[in-house]
Amino acid sequence: MTEQTITINDQSFSFEPGETILEVARRNTIDIPTLCYLKGATPTGACRICVVEVKKARNLLPACCTPAEDGMVVYTESPKVVESRKMTIQLLLASGNHNCAVRGGDPKSWTAFQLSAQSHDGSSDLCPAWGDCELQNLAYQYQVSGDRFPATEPHYAMETVNPFIVRDFSRCILCGRCVQACNEIQVNGAISLGYRGAESKIVAAGDRPLRDSDCVFCGECVQACPVGALVEKNARYEWRPWEVRKTRTTCSYCGVGCQLELHVKNNKVIKVTGAEETPPNYGSLCVKGRFGFDFINSDERLTTPLIKENGEFRQASWNEALNYTAKRLGEIRDEHGPDSLGVLSSARVSNEENYLAQKFARAVLKTNNVDHCARL
Ligand code: SF4
Ligand code: SF4
Ligand code: SF4
Ligand code: FES
Repeated sequence: MTEQTITINDQSFSFEPGETILEVARRNTIDIPTLCYLKGATPTGACRICVVEVKKARNLLPACCTPAEDGMVVYTESPKVVESRKMTIQLLLASGNHNCAVRGGDPKSWTAFQLSAQSHDGSSDLCPAWGDCELQNLAYQYQVSGDRFPATEPHYAMETVNPFIVRDFSRCILCGRCVQACNEIQVNGAISLGYRGAESKIVAAGDRPLRDSDCVFCGECVQACPVGALVEKNARYEWRPWEVRKTRTTCSYCGVGCQLELHVKNNKVIKVTGAEETPPNYGSLCVKGRFGFDFINSDERLTTPLIKENGEFRQASWNEALNYTAKRLGEIRDEHGPDSLGVLSSARVSNEENYLAQKFARAVLKTNNVDHCARL
């Protein structure tokens, strides 16, 4: 088959049949901004921020859902494209309570303006996504503010009753990424787009709080949300992107080995996100991996081995604890026989560690009494 090519910004690229303009561009490090596009999910073409100019096409076309065609000539930052993107950003900033610094208003009175903007939804604070928002980034990149169109009043109150997630509908741009993350990536089917027109809202279980729905609090929607509409409850107002150091690690809850990013501020884990672009989880996590990290900084955490003497625990070194355990296991085996011992392994360790546990039981303790916490 002859190679098919597309020209983007005067450079020629080959592509595989079925690839979109966006996929070809990104594969060749050409940036096209997106908001509603979620990798791994069906493109919806909802936001129109990714529009590009295609020679001979009557209108600008969304790059995320337009297939590349042989001989296609595309411009990703032409004057028409830039003008359209500016308009889209201005409309999004005007729809709801986008009270971050990108919002225009009276330039002589930013504070007064921001106070009036945030009074809409009862929120007494500026947006918690400030500095970590794709819409704000785009406003900066295309140098637009939100004062071109009159702001629409938020329709729905903030939802703060959920254990892990705050939903701020006044900052939702209805991109639908959360719905795709929930339904297509995690296949939980907990949320959908509800109501119509200006009343549109992301709803769960016929418009109930997430805690009263099928939501399992995996947090996939929070990671997918490009703005401040979905944020982790405990991390809200606790961090700015430039204050945290990100450390990649492996989740310790089970043997799947999901890759995490720990967001650490002042030596404390503030929040956890799934590491994208890497197996086995490609950014997805379960509720434990994403939200179950309080123990890391808990004052009650054990930091040394403990040996029980006369009914009381005392601290011991690892050397002492291991020697003592080895000695006692040997004594019990010799005195009462190998069947007096058993080994319980864990779903929270790796396959290799489980293998070593059974090897230790069989080869060292000489017992076949091996079991696993999943059957306790
Ligand atoms: S969601 Fe983004 S654009 Fe809207 S107020 Fe928050 S930071 Fe600003
Ligand atoms: S937390 Fe998970 S299950 Fe709940 S709405 Fe978000 S993606 Fe769906
Ligand atoms: S909550 Fe976030 S991800 Fe969901 S539609 Fe609104 S802006 Fe998009
Ligand atoms: S990212 Fe393409 S239409 Fe939204």
